[in-house]
Amino acid sequence: MDIRALPKAELHLHIEGTLEPELVFALANRNNISLPWANVEELRELYNFSNLQSFLDLYYQSMTALRTRDDFFDLGLAYLARAHADGVRHAEIFFDPQAHLENGLEFEDVLGGLSDALGQAQGQYGISGGLIMCFLRDKGPQAALQMLEIAEPYVGHLLGVGLDSTEIGYPSELYSQAFDRAGELGLHRVAHAGEEGPPEYVWGALRALGAERIDHGLRSLEDEELVAHLIAQRIPLTCCPFSNVRLKAIADLAKHPLQVMLERGMLATLNSDDPAYFGGYLGDNFTHTIAALGLNDAQVVQLCHNSIAASFASPERKAELFALLAAAVE
Ligand code: HPA
Ligand code: ZN
Repeated sequence: MDIRALPKAELHLHIEGTLEPELVFALANRNNISLPWANVEELRELYNFSNLQSFLDLYYQSMTALRTRDDFFDLGLAYLARAHADGVRHAEIFFDPQAHLENGLEFEDVLGGLSDALGQAQGQYGISGGLIMCFLRDKGPQAALQMLEIAEPYVGHLLGVGLDSTEIGYPSELYSQAFDRAGELGLHRVAHAGEEGPPEYVWGALRALGAERIDHGLRSLEDEELVAHLIAQRIPLTCCPFSNVRLKAIADLAKHPLQVMLERGMLATLNSDDPAYFGGYLGDNFTHTIAALGLNDAQVVQLCHNSIAASFASPERKAELFALLAAAVE
């Protein structure tokens, strides 16, 4: 089976996490910004993380090179070209505007550049998708509300809101007001939870934030009642095995619970998170994870099917994608 060619959706991808070191230097050059690293090799050598925070520190530092609407367009389109090569037909893309506003950008430029990239990829590659604006947990609940107010005039260009960055110490419940408001605005709601934090963070995202999907959700398996709830409610988990290994949430790929999740009938999906930092894009995540866990063909197809089912694509688009998948496995 040609795994890369199978039609699939990517649902957990931070566009800033696709910022390759080469692009960091190219953008810094174009924008006349000086970087704390001498060259690409020196930066790449730092891609050796001990946990989520050690990654985030470098992630935020690297994204200071992003300064213009064009930068976001180029970043978005570079990702979408790679995604297309990996069989991605639908991409729901996270972005972290609070970080860019701190770097002096206008929200409109960030959103505009990324939206234009999605528009171009739609025409060029037939990829559908949308943008999910993430609140940074470590900026706190008030900052999340302020961010949402800034974004309100552009709400028609957003698919939903998410919650990311430092997890432990910032329980999901803190952001309930921002998520309630996002719901009133008609936005979908997702949240990172259970990446490093315990199952209580997943419960909080479900109960206090109305999260429709849980990003990572790795530690959900520690709580049988939670597993039963996720199965009964068909709540998707967006798993990112390369990320979990690189950030030391699990020891190696073979220990990832993805197979257990599938066997238990959970709506688990496979995603790349921050592919420039974690060793590969979605195609690589598929091939290496499948090999490490020994997933059979039916499970591989199930992962693609789950990614479409768990997406926020319209019923018509989902039907199209399911038909493409069925045709590809015939
Ligand atoms: N977890 C939390 N925040 C993030 C991540 C992640 O994996 N990637 C980018 N921001
Ligand atoms: Zn993530």
